[in-house]
Amino acid sequence: MKVQLLSLKKACLNAIKEVETLRSLQEVEVKYIGRKGELTSILRGVKDLPDKQKPIIGKLSNKVKNELETAFKVKIVELETAELNKKLKDDNFDITVPGPDNNLGHIHPLSQVQRKVENIFGSMGFTVMDGPEVESEYYNFEGLNIPSWHPARDMQDTFFIKGKKDKKHGRMVLRTHTSPVQVRTMEKFGPPLRVIVPGRTFRYEATDASHDTTFYQVEGFMIDKDISIAHLKGVLAQFLSRLFEKDVKVRIRPGYFPFVEPGLEVDFSCLICGGKGCRVCKHTGWVEFMGAGMIHENVLKAGGIDPKKWQGWAFGFGLTRLVMMRHAIDDIRLLLGGDLRFINQF
Ligand code: DAH
Repeated sequence: MKVQLLSLKKACLNAIKEVETLRSLQEVEVKYIGRKGELTSILRGVKDLPDKQKPIIGKLSNKVKNELETAFKVKIVELETAELNKKLKDDNFDITVPGPDNNLGHIHPLSQVQRKVENIFGSMGFTVMDGPEVESEYYNFEGLNIPSWHPARDMQDTFFIKGKKDKKHGRMVLRTHTSPVQVRTMEKFGPPLRVIVPGRTFRYEATDASHDTTFYQVEGFMIDKDISIAHLKGVLAQFLSRLFEKDVKVRIRPGYFPFVEPGLEVDFSCLICGGKGCRVCKHTGWVEFMGAGMIHENVLKAGGIDPKKWQGWAFGFGLTRLVMMRHAIDDIRLLLGGDLRFINQF
């Protein structure tokens, strides 16, 4: 029986060696060490052996079984590896090529600053509103106290949309500012209001380092009872100090915009020199920042608000310009230019 076992082992090992596929390996396994295989039928004879022989043959048969099982496992790995290598070769798969870069990207600098602006105003009780970029001429101009004959129309060069008309309000334009959302919000919600409107705006103009046809603005307004310019100054000083994380002062000068009366220009103390005067602020200590003023009564009326009961202020600033100041970017065209070498710096 010992001879039988050893010759079975030899035959099985030979068969394993010859085999070339996993399938035929499985057949060999069934044949030699399977439940109905040759080893099993040899072992059936153990019970007829003399008692002395039984443990010796029992031990030997276990050893042979273990050895063969190991040989099968080794062969499986061998065949699988060969198959994989063949596949890699057939697929033209270059295992040395580095894997794809796990690049998630990041938030655009304009959106980063916009979110910061929204957070700061949000914490002061302002709601963020949105409005259409393709706007009716009415909301963009008339509703803001800029009638068609008004010379102020020339202040903003406008893209008109060919052939498209709003049922109620006529011609359509690409909004030249975020101010139209003032009247839209007044109509929709009524007073009191504390709102900011960040958004994309468009002007028909030649592009250069400081002008682009597409840029971003933030409109803001507050309407309530007994609202004055003092509230505006306080809100803006707070906003700018939190945005720039330093104490920023605000200065107000007279200005002209048709939708406010009185109209104002707002400057803030230069971030570089703190107001002493340097090249950035052209030695004035102040940086021009935005337009503002007390909302004109015609605008309140357009929004369905009684100017005798309510009043408020409004402001509008360039978000794009703010981003440029914050990061010392000297060409506006870089921001929407889509060049990753630029964008990845933020
Ligand atoms: N809409 C103006 C512009 O784009 C900015 C502006 C000025 C907005 C004064 C206002 C304001 O709300 O009161 O040039």
